Amino acid sequence: MITLRDVILRRGAKVLLDKVSVTLNPGEKVGLVGRNGAGKSSLFGLFNGTLHEDGGDFSIPTQWEMAQVAQEMPETHEAATDFVLAGDTRLMGVRQRLADADAAHEADPDDMDAGMAIAHAYADLHDAGEHDAVPRAQALILGLGFRSDELNNPVNSFSGGWRMRLQLARALMCPSHLLLLDEPTNHLDLDALVWLESWLQRYAGTMIVISHDREFLDAVTNVTLHIENQRLTRYGGNYSTFENMRLLQLEQQQSAFSKQQEKMAHLQKFIDRFKAKASKAKQAQSRVKALERMERIGPVLAEADFTFEFKEPQNLPNPMLAISDASFGYGPDKVILRSVSRSVLAGQRIGILGANGQGKSTLVKTIAHEIGAIAGTITEGKGLNIGYFAQQELDVLRPPDNPLEHMTRLAREVGPPGREQELRNFLGTFNFSGDMVRQAVGTMSGGEKARLVLAMMVWQRPNLLLLDEPTNHLDLATREALAVALNEFEGTLMLVSHDRALLRSVCDEFWLVGRGEIKPFDGDLDDYQQYLLDESKRLREEARNQTDAAAPAPVVAATASDAQQRQDATMRLRPLRKDLEKTEARMAQLEADKADFEARLAQPMGPAEMADLGRRLKAIGGELQPLEERWLELTGQIEAIDATA
Ligand SMILES: Nc1ncnc2c1ncn2[C@@H]1O[C@H](COP(=O)(O)OP(=O)(O)OP(=O)(O)O)[C@@H](O)[C@H]1O
Ligand SMILES: [Mg+2]
Repeated sequence: MITLRDVILRRGAKVLLDKVSVTLNPGEKVGLVGRNGAGKSSLFGLFNGTLHEDGGDFSIPTQWEMAQVAQEMPETHEAATDFVLAGDTRLMGVRQRLADADAAHEADPDDMDAGMAIAHAYADLHDAGEHDAVPRAQALILGLGFRSDELNNPVNSFSGGWRMRLQLARALMCPSHLLLLDEPTNHLDLDALVWLESWLQRYAGTMIVISHDREFLDAVTNVTLHIENQRLTRYGGNYSTFENMRLLQLEQQQSAFSKQQEKMAHLQKFIDRFKAKASKAKQAQSRVKALERMERIGPVLAEADFTFEFKEPQNLPNPMLAISDASFGYGPDKVILRSVSRSVLAGQRIGILGANGQGKSTLVKTIAHEIGAIAGTITEGKGLNIGYFAQQELDVLRPPDNPLEHMTRLAREVGPPGREQELRNFLGTFNFSGDMVRQAVGTMSGGEKARLVLAMMVWQRPNLLLLDEPTNHLDLATREALAVALNEFEGTLMLVSHDRALLRSVCDEFWLVGRGEIKPFDGDLDDYQQYLLDESKRLREEARNQTDAAAPAPVVAATASDAQQRQDATMRLRPLRKDLEKTEARMAQLEADKADFEARLAQPMGPAEMADLGRRLKAIGGELQPLEERWLELTGQIEAIDATA
């Protein structure tokens, strides 16, 4: 159980939580929500011990194993699988113990304790899931969208977003009582997101997740914690339930507020009327006290509404862009998209869809001049002014500088330097008011930084917006504001986003990036979800066919019914192959263990250890035999189906 009693939490001069009390029970799936800068990440700091309460009591079971996603970009040559595997702290602990015991045993072969320790460690290894640790790690990596030929690539060969996915996989790999996830969907695209939802639905421990994604929260949480105005409120239910309850509560609060106002007015009238009369002075006095004691109900402050707009573009070239017979990618050996010929017209609102790693960002980056086209031409309309927003864009901010300094620099770069008051006013429209214009960007929350980048983009008055995952870090109200602003934007929009609501509300056509091409996508987002499912099936089959490449190609041209038959066969083969793979993996593990134990038996050892090893060998034999039978049966069935197809 996690309990907060009258907890106060401060950050710099700001009080984030003021005497809050809340209890979270084991096994609860908690969504932690609130506006950008409300203090969600800071509260995580309290949970994981990096921050301390400034008042009140906070407690968390000391024996709880905690898993969380490391925030830093991993810099290591380690293979992706090993990197993720290392997240399994329990297994790593046992491996370490085994290594220590081995070393002790080596140093002194007569050391009975070392012998025992080795035997124990082996037993624990099994309990810690050593036998399927690698497939477990790889399932996480593949689920998060990596290709199977990337499983053992070094971590630092991946781009930033992908390395963060590995960090996420590593956290999920850790057997834990408490899982803390701070905006885990930020680096994911739609299909990885759907995979993560289903993974989290099976997670057994207590989970607290910060997210601004309504659909995601609804899918994975059953309790909602809301931070607002330095208060922390617990609601039983997922995000939608929370919204409904809150609405009701606000209505009730509003009517309670009006009632209280009436009552206070009444008391005041009484006091005023009787204060003058000596005989009534005592009653008046008690009414004054009553008035003072009355717990004030706040009026409902609709969450400070936030809106902004893009300035009207100075001109709208048409077409904005003409791409002709172009190839995009990262050098001649790494072409991602080829023979692209498309035009982008004034006023088009294009959603760019595509599965992981198909080249959406490559397309956007090329148009934004971040990388050059490998072949072909991109002709730009006269007066084209691109506003580009990418996740890495947050890196363009300088941590020691404040928002005002950023704006001053930008204003000087793109036009006549703005007056300070003008810049302050402009920042004000993006909710950077008062002290915040002077707060170092490095200490700001993720959403605050993203908001500043948006502000800087608007200042540049673009006519073509290239937005690559613009809603990461933004709270719902700011997303809403962005959606409204984008809807009113008169220029052209190209948007890559995993935010289903945003895509739905601002795009009216879609491009699909996949299989090395860009094509218009004929359908809506639901059709796209189906397309993703089909596509991932196709990729899996392709991968399988590659491993089966040794199989002889069919000699006779296939007829339609042949094709049908083959498809049926594939369907029937799939579960068998899977079963076979599992059986083989387990057999290999048991055989390895067996060899290992047999080798160990040849070493000098005490009677207890010898007995233990003997028992284990027997157990292995007991498990191996039925497995071998199963193996024979499966290979037989597979051969039979192969022969008919
Ligand atoms: N070292 C600091 N000095 C001053 N203010 C700070 C410091 N660290 C954080 N803050 C402020 O504390 C507030 C809470 O930050 P926190 O990162 O917890 O917000 P958050 O709820 O996670 O927001 P987001 O949704 O944007 O991630 C922010 O307004 C931030 O600017
Ligand atoms: Mg945060």
